[in-house]
Amino acid sequence: MPEPTHRFLRACLRLPTDRTPIWIMRQAGRYLPEYMATRKQAGDFLSLCKNPELATQVTMQPIDRFGLDAAILFSDILVVPEAMGMGLSFGTGEGPLLEPVINSASDLEKLHDPDPESELEYVMKTIRSIRRALDGRVPLIGFSGSPWTLATYMIEGGSSKTFSRIKGMMYDRPELLQALLDRLVAAVTNYLNAQIRHGVQAVQIFDTWGGVLGHDEFLRFSLESMRRIVAGLERIGPDGAKVPVILFAKGCGSHLEAMADSGCDVVGLDWTTDLARARVRVQGRVALQGNMDPAVLSASPERIRREAERVLTAYGPHPGHVFNLGHGITPDCTPDKVAGLVAAVQNFTFGSHAP
Ligand code: CP3
Repeated sequence: MPEPTHRFLRACLRLPTDRTPIWIMRQAGRYLPEYMATRKQAGDFLSLCKNPELATQVTMQPIDRFGLDAAILFSDILVVPEAMGMGLSFGTGEGPLLEPVINSASDLEKLHDPDPESELEYVMKTIRSIRRALDGRVPLIGFSGSPWTLATYMIEGGSSKTFSRIKGMMYDRPELLQALLDRLVAAVTNYLNAQIRHGVQAVQIFDTWGGVLGHDEFLRFSLESMRRIVAGLERIGPDGAKVPVILFAKGCGSHLEAMADSGCDVVGLDWTTDLARARVRVQGRVALQGNMDPAVLSASPERIRREAERVLTAYGPHPGHVFNLGHGITPDCTPDKVAGLVAAVQNFTFGSHAP
């Protein structure tokens, strides 16, 4: 199989690179004035996700502005529950709403098994359109939510602070929760395979809420579903290239060894995990992505540069590091801070020990 040339794909596969690649979770978003302008043109966030031409525009905005090393499909994890038949809306300020919530076997029966080529066709169109716009500049990352994280929204009806409904179901009716997770494993596997067929060159699974679980519950209700998805993915793209799989589970640094054994190529870490120790803990089984605290972007340019260099130095001059924040960029960030961060990472060298 030919080796990839893009440094992001090379780092995912633990091949040597000229420097550490960088992309940023939520790199296309509200902190960019050009994003706000395109969203206004689309009408609202969901209409933007469903408009391939405008979704392509917002995917390209941070690539054009900052010269990042990878692009990420502009969409949302919650389009999958919507394609399964749930009503989805984004209320201003209060986050996403999904209804009616799943609370019984009969609610589950009403869910549809989506065909990504029809119900999510707009995503496939967007992927093809972004690949044309990128024209080989940098690779395109596709994504999905993890079954556990999607289930939290489907059972809670939106964002939650306590996760009482889904945890109540997990402890009292684990078979019902497992039945929902099984449906989501199938839906997400089909969805990511369709993304790969239409041209994404890497995929990331977001387990935003894995960190609310205890160790045993994480292994059983979150990691196991992700492991089954990873096992079901077509890991070779239509162009014959390997498609790396990134597992990002927020607040899950203590389960790192188990995640590294899931079959993925890269584990994404948040800022609470010691990156230097993490590299030793995974023993070369996977590459690591992360892990600067997004809040550093509210500090001074000098401090941002020092913190970026601290992360790069913590991983050290070894292959297999993708620089990222430990979670998504926040809307209060300003573009000049991001430009400073990207420059700090792209100008950094390990002296004679190029990574
Ligand atoms: O990273 C990127 O640039 C790609 C686009 C992307 C979005 N959402 C766009 C978005 C990605 C990869 C996601 C994933 C996503 N969506 C996750 C997992 C990642 C994470 O942050 O942990 C989750 C949990 C969601 C669900 C979701 N979508 C929430 C909770 C919210 C509301 C919170 C918020 O930030 O307002 C969204 C909305 C959303 N998704 C926005 C964007 C740009 C903001 C919408 C807007 O008002 O314009």
